[in-house]
Amino acid sequence: MSRYTGLIEHYIDRLPVTDATPVISLAEGNTPLIQLVNIPRLINKDVDIYVKYEGLNPTGSFKDRGMTMAVTKAVEAGSKAIICASTGNTSAAAAAYAARAGITAFVVIPEGKIALGKLAQAMMHGAIVLQIKGNFDAGMELVKQLSESSPVTLVNSVNPYRLQGQKTAAFEIVDALGKVPDYHCLPVGNAGNISAYWMGYTEYAENGPSNGNTPVMCGYQAAGAAPFLRGHPIEHPETVATAIRIGNPQSWDLAINARDQSGGWFDEFSDEEILATQKLLAENEGVFCEPASAISVAGAIRDIRSGKIPEGSTVTCTLTGHGLKDPDTAIAQSSETISVDADEAAIRKVIEANMAD
Ligand code: F0G
Repeated sequence: MSRYTGLIEHYIDRLPVTDATPVISLAEGNTPLIQLVNIPRLINKDVDIYVKYEGLNPTGSFKDRGMTMAVTKAVEAGSKAIICASTGNTSAAAAAYAARAGITAFVVIPEGKIALGKLAQAMMHGAIVLQIKGNFDAGMELVKQLSESSPVTLVNSVNPYRLQGQKTAAFEIVDALGKVPDYHCLPVGNAGNISAYWMGYTEYAENGPSNGNTPVMCGYQAAGAAPFLRGHPIEHPETVATAIRIGNPQSWDLAINARDQSGGWFDEFSDEEILATQKLLAENEGVFCEPASAISVAGAIRDIRSGKIPEGSTVTCTLTGHGLKDPDTAIAQSSETISVDADEAAIRKVIEANMAD
């Protein structure tokens, strides 16, 4: 049978599961690696840029990779409930996988600061949604304490099974390209994903098809939430890219290690630059990602333009979440719709006014 049944079964030999493990899966992973065809031309550079479109996972973000593993292992250990703090996507994934497993999800989110689609998902899947008057970092401290004092399994990326699941994205990229990319660009918030990718790339290099090769890891943060650029945690992170509105990343040391071992770097982008790149991708490539995700392509473009990433390179960018997650931000930055009579002549007028010569 060739039906794809999720990343645990696909990469079972590289994940900490046994034949007896009760796999909780929504057929996550196996997401497309789409080559950008118009942006390289726009920036007039000879580079191969691919986007790993993680928005096409079951709940619309890369979090499903980690959550299938974390919930599978929680259920295997007999847990009846999971808990997480979240800027939105982790809560959506936790809610969905808990629903699938028939256990309870408690999700702690910063009140009024998560994108609408993500809130809808957590609510729809029946999670207990706790909105706190505090940011993600405050929520993170609370759920760490609660998982010690209550019978709930913590499924944030400090849970090691999360990174195990997420490392499979690196495997998929190498499997799809038939080689290791030269540079890998991705957003950095809580810093679990850059750590997981590095784990996956190094595993494939040491004991897999990558022949000792690994990419240079390039991590990008929002300027108002850029602890790695400042060199210390930020108390009041702010950015339109609410997914990465994080000041005290939990995987700090692992992310620094990924940067240093790969010869990579961190950089930062303003909210305006993030939104402009989200629009650029949507309008020029037909790929709709959420604001936080676009920062990976913003980084690639800047570093290719400057020559930091040389021409001739193969560059992969992770688009971590789907654009539909955050309809408010999308609509706020788009041109207005046209109100028109239900009349052929009226619509023809609009067509004529808007046709390219
Ligand atoms: N992009 C998106 C869309 C995210 O949701 C996140 C993190 C990141 C990037 C950053 O990844 O934390 O591994 O460095 N979202 C978490 C959440 C924090 O709660 O959904 P990271």
